[in-house]
Parts: sequence; C-alpha cells; structure tokens
Amino acid sequence: MNRIFSGIQPTGNLHLGNYLGALRNWVRLQDTFECLYCVVDMHAITVWQDPAALRDSTRTAAAAMIAAGVNPETSAVFVQSHVAAHAQLAWIFNCVARLGWLSRMTQFKEKAGKNRENASVGLFAYPNLMAADILAYKATHVPVGEDQKQHLELARDIAQKFNNDYGISLFPIVEPLIFGPATRVMSLRDGTKKMSKSDASDYSRINLADDADAIALKIRKAKTDPEVLPSTAAGLEGRPEAANLLGIYAALADRDIETVCAQFAGQTFAGFKAALCDLAVATLGGIGAEMQRLQADPGFLDATLREGAERAQALAEPIMREVYEAVGFLARDPQRG
Ligand code: TYM
Repeated sequence: MNRIFSGIQPTGNLHLGNYLGALRNWVRLQDTFECLYCVVDMHAITVWQDPAALRDSTRTAAAAMIAAGVNPETSAVFVQSHVAAHAQLAWIFNCVARLGWLSRMTQFKEKAGKNRENASVGLFAYPNLMAADILAYKATHVPVGEDQKQHLELARDIAQKFNNDYGISLFPIVEPLIFGPATRVMSLRDGTKKMSKSDASDYSRINLADDADAIALKIRKAKTDPEVLPSTAAGLEGRPEAANLLGIYAALADRDIETVCAQFAGQTFAGFKAALCDLAVATLGGIGAEMQRLQADPGFLDATLREGAERAQALAEPIMREVYEAVGFLARDPQRG
C-alpha cells in the first residue's frame, strides 16, 4: 500500500518555494494516496525558537497548508510533538544511523556554519528525526523540494540498516517525489540563492501570506539581467534570475519551461513580469486571505490538529509495537503484544 508523509517547519514565513516545491504537490497527491501532513515543531527547535512565536507559527503553518488546499478531512493534518512516536522512533534511529552519515549532510554544514561545536545535538541528529517522521507510519512516498533529497537518501539508508541489523523487513524504502518545474525556487534578489524563510530581505521571497499588492511589488523589484528572454530553455544557461522567474511562471501556469520560453521568446522582462504578476496574483492571491480567515479561528485550527494527531497516532501505534519488539524491548503489556 502507498502512504504519503511530508512535513514543513513552522519557522518564519512560508513562501512560494514551499508552495511550488511541496504544498501544491501535497494537494495533488491527496486524491490518490492516504496522506499525512505534519507541522514539524520538533525540527524547528533544533535552532532557538521563541516559545510564544513558535506556538503562533505552528498555527500559521497549519493555516497555510489548509489555505493552499490540503483537505484535513481526507489527509491527516497534525503537529509533530502531538504524536509521541516521532520522538520514540527518532531515538532508536539515533542508535542505527552512523556519525559518519550525519557528518556528510550538507544542510547541517550550512546551518551549523563555522561554529560547529556550538550547534545543538538536535541539529546534527535532525535527519534521524526526519526518517522517524516518515517511517513511524511506514510511509512509502515523500513529496518534497530538491533541498530535502539528501535527507531522504539517509532515511532510505536508515530503513535498510534497521531491516538488516534486526533481520526483519519492517520498514519500506521510501521514494522521494520531487516533481514540477520549480523543485528549487530561488531568491528574487539573487538567482543563485535558494528562496528561504530565513533570508533577511522580505523582497527575496513571495510569502503565502502576502496580498496582491505585495506580490506585484516583489515581482516588479525582482532582479533580472539586461538580455531579452530566450526562445528555448537552453538559452537560460548562465542566467539564474531569468531561469528562476521562467520556472516560477511555468509552475504557476502548469506548463513546462520550453513552452513558456517559446511563449515569451524575444520579449523584455517588463512585459514578462506584467504577465507573471497577473498569474501569481490569480493563483496565490486567495491563499493569503484564506490564511487570515483560518487564523482568526484558532479553535477550529486546534480542533483540526487534535483530530489529525489522533488519526496519526492510531496509525503509528501498531508500527511502534512492531519496532519495540524487533529491537528487543520488553513489552509493558504482554496482552497487547
Ligand atoms: P522546510 O520547512 O524547509 O520546507 C518545507 C518544504 O518546502 C520545500 N522547499 C522548497 N522547495 C522549492 N524551492 C524552495 N526554495 C524551497 N524551500 C523549501 C522543502 O523541500 C520541503 O519539502 N526537513 C524538512 C521538513 C521535514 C520533512 C520531514 C519533510 C521534517 N520531517 C519528513 C519530509 C518528510 C524541512 O525543513 O522543510
């Protein structure tokens, strides 16, 4: 059976990269698969988070998921810390994964920077918790943006080593689902940097909470180059800002890059940006308004998250019993196995 798991960190502003790389694909998959979509607050605290702000942004992230089209009636929408299996399985994976594997993770190197000695142990073990998120449900497919690929390869290695070590075929080998023309959306200010929640400049990203005016202003101010647009995707080579904006257009219009290049061949950025503005406002403009509506009703959000956690927990419990037995933990309640 196929089961989807994916997660998003409740830190800072959710943006167009999160939408095109992940959320939009989550929405598309929920009609065909059983899906679990999680706000990963435990991952967030691997770097310092102000507690009150974390609580707020956890609700905001849930609101963004639902506003983007995730349906909490069919998909389980929940908060990571509400289901104990994530932490329980992460500990076991801390004992399966090797230091050497984690040392090779590029995201750890980037986030820890030069002062590695001062990074939290949680930041180092981050990918183990991510593997636990997925495998606590025996999820088979994980829709993410390009930047999570290495972490998912590690999740495969962990599943394989666990199965080998304990001589049991317990965990599936997960398949990353990285698709669409915008699996790595870049900053609007610098086409060589990933669009990110933590960029100091708000002009670098389109936030899902932005209204039509903010979206239009950011697109108008987006960095470009002096050339006209090329007629084929090959002509985007060495033009990171042009490649990024055309990729965003293609993703929002649901076309491939070649078709979009053919459409705008020889045009200036001014004309193209006007078309991109209209398209972005038409596709994204409603999400911000819907987020606001949902955030005004924390009672609804909390009840939705509670119900999602109950569903998730019911799926994880029998799997955790299997895992504890495989590892050799003494059953607390032998009646239940
Ligand atoms: P996070 O919160 O950084 O991002 C959430 C999702 O958005 C994608 N994404 C992007 N896609 C395209 N272009 C971008 N500029 C861009 N920025 C972010 C990410 O690839 C991701 O799919 N570790 C994960 C959260 C996580 C998770 C998991 C994901 C925790 N456990 C289990 C999948 C399965 C993270 O920090 O994503």
